[in-house]
Amino acid sequence: MSEDNNSATAVLLSAEQVSLAFADGPHVLQDVSLTIRAGDFVALVGPSGVGKSTLLRLLAGLLTPSSGQILLQGQPLRLHAAPIGIVFQRGGLMPWRTVWQNVQLPLELMGNGRHVSARVQEMINLVGLQGFEHVYPAQLSGGMAQRVAIARALVHQPSLLLLDEPFGALDALTRERMAQELLRIWHLMPVTVFMVTHSIAEAVLLADDVLVMGGSPARITHHIRVALPRPRKLEMEGTAEFHHCATAVRRAIEASG
Ligand SMILES: Nc1ncnc2c1ncn2[C@@H]1O[C@H](COP(=O)(O)OP(=O)(O)OP(=O)(O)O)[C@@H](O)[C@H]1O
Ligand SMILES: [Mg+2]
Repeated sequence: MSEDNNSATAVLLSAEQVSLAFADGPHVLQDVSLTIRAGDFVALVGPSGVGKSTLLRLLAGLLTPSSGQILLQGQPLRLHAAPIGIVFQRGGLMPWRTVWQNVQLPLELMGNGRHVSARVQEMINLVGLQGFEHVYPAQLSGGMAQRVAIARALVHQPSLLLLDEPFGALDALTRERMAQELLRIWHLMPVTVFMVTHSIAEAVLLADDVLVMGGSPARITHHIRVALPRPRKLEMEGTAEFHHCATAVRRAIEASG
């Protein structure tokens, strides 16, 4: 985001020395610290099973750290009223609800389900699904379902959007297209994003910062800044800066074990 916007440099979310051990399971995270500035797009990469989804669930307030703390706008997450949007690998749409009803759900849960049709329609249009309002999830392709999940995650104007491998279940071409869609949506509706991905190319193309997680218990081992200009375009994958960053991320993953 633009450097001359003051809010772009304000810290939105911070994790301080966060550790997590499941009660009768593994000690997954040890002393994880990170800072996400308002407006940033941060990607998290690392080997399967390392603890990426666990960290995302901590940042969402769905899990509580064993030690350390997570602050949203300087306040402990649990006390914070600001909504957070989440998209998982498989969108988790409710099969008995139409596209419209799925997108409307967060507003209903917040107690303002009525008088919001303009907002629901705006989000459906934003993700390019106008005309599919009354269709059920079973009738959607994987890419369309993830568009609905993104619309649903943004409908209540969250300050933070958490994405856990949002395109991981899609074929390679759809995935690439959806990454560009996400860039387009992010440009129209800037929100702070924290995205877990297995794809180094996706991380570098989308993010301002790529965090690499490794070790057992895991911590953030590397932090790679991506200096590609915005708006990002798929053609940038051919640039020297893209290759430089992608190589740095790959080496960091190898080194982090
Ligand atoms: N609820 C749970 N109870 C006990 N152990 C868990 C729980 N959730 C995750 N784990 C364990 O925590 C570790 C990290 O899991 P996590 O899902 O965070 O990994 P990940 O990096 O997201 O993996 P992937 O890339 O495959 O999605 C794994 O060993 C997993 O088995
Ligand atoms: Mg995961």
